[in-house]
Amino acid sequence: MIFTRTTALKGTVTVPGDKSISHRSIMFGALSNGTTRVTNFLKGADCLSTIDCFRNLGIQIDDNPDEILIHGKGLHGLSAPKRMLDTGNSGTTTRLICGILAGQDFTTELNGDASIQTRPMKRITEPLSQMGAHITSLKNNDCAPLRIEGAPLHGIHYVSPVASAQVKSCILLAGLYADCPTSVTEPYLSRNHSEIMLRHFGVDLKSKGVTATIQPGAELFAQDIQVPGDISSAAYFIAAGLMVPDSEILIRNVGINPTRNGMLKVCQDMGADLTLLNVREAGGEPVADLLVRHSSLRGVTIGGAIIPTLIDELPMIAALACFAEGTTIIKDAQELKVKESNRIEVMAVNLNAMGACVTATEDGMIIEGGHPLHGAVIDSRLDHRIAMTFAVTALAADGETRIQGADCVRISYPGFYKDLEKLTANCC
Ligand code: S3P
Repeated sequence: MIFTRTTALKGTVTVPGDKSISHRSIMFGALSNGTTRVTNFLKGADCLSTIDCFRNLGIQIDDNPDEILIHGKGLHGLSAPKRMLDTGNSGTTTRLICGILAGQDFTTELNGDASIQTRPMKRITEPLSQMGAHITSLKNNDCAPLRIEGAPLHGIHYVSPVASAQVKSCILLAGLYADCPTSVTEPYLSRNHSEIMLRHFGVDLKSKGVTATIQPGAELFAQDIQVPGDISSAAYFIAAGLMVPDSEILIRNVGINPTRNGMLKVCQDMGADLTLLNVREAGGEPVADLLVRHSSLRGVTIGGAIIPTLIDELPMIAALACFAEGTTIIKDAQELKVKESNRIEVMAVNLNAMGACVTATEDGMIIEGGHPLHGAVIDSRLDHRIAMTFAVTALAADGETRIQGADCVRISYPGFYKDLEKLTANCC
């Protein structure tokens, strides 16, 4: 796909449902008694992988135009799958489902696409093994494909070396099947959608600072879940509005959970004209409309506790920093190396190809703002967030930007290019 410079992005966009919350609605609905009804579910490829896995585990899930219905069978209602589970490109599906499968009385094998087969799984297999789980990496490389032989589990207190909601959620879900309480302490608080939603389903789960503790054996009760819009998808329109001269964009119904809203804080520190309107609650999560206008930005330093709250937005923030005056430093973000692609390397290579001045570091990037950008050929490496980041960046760059593998946006935002096109005439 080819993108060129534009001016004056104007209009309203409603981003699709939150990916993290959509995944969890299927998983927790499957483990509940009764029918869970989910509205504004994200029908991206990752969440469809979660649906497919739970259908394969014997759960009836109706995919209706306006709602998803999950006919839960309770904590012990899953059945052995007839074939290997396919988690596609989804790290969330892969890691969270392992926590559930570890406590079943059957054996499961799972695998995903080429990217999933390179992503580190030791971060979950190690704590799960401490709980008594039997998990094997079938290629003996600590990655998928994995075999999970269900086993009796015991509760542990796990001190995680990484701030990862996928690790935390995996262990807490295994904790549902354990013989005593399970706690997870992380270095910084990661997104807390599992904690919020499991409490809604009736689980006794307490959070204190960076530690979450779950009591086993709870009965989960079906819920109605209204999924808020995904701030990670809104990020592209926030950046587009800030970068492209004379723009004014209203982004409706965006989840602003404090464990996810780091980009809003960073934009404000950079001097962005960004206003939160109509702050309210949906499905136990805070939501707002965001009004963003083109702004002069300054460089900032981003590191420490804020990193997990904007981890998926860092590619877009790195590109935005190229339009700021002065230097932006991103640090403590080594997790970027083990996402759908090595996002430190891919961002540095592609931004520099567009004329930016970016140095990749061990745990982030140093970006000298103010160098005018020009078009380039961008290899998305089939990473949805890289493709969307460069589709936006191209709108504020000279010449033509060609994005290879642009279709990978179907992972988290199938309608992305259409929504972007509504704000600009330059997308073809
Ligand atoms: C997610 C957590 C994050 C994030 C991913 C979704 C989740 O990963 O990058 O896109 O839904 O729990 P980590 O928790 O591993 O950082």
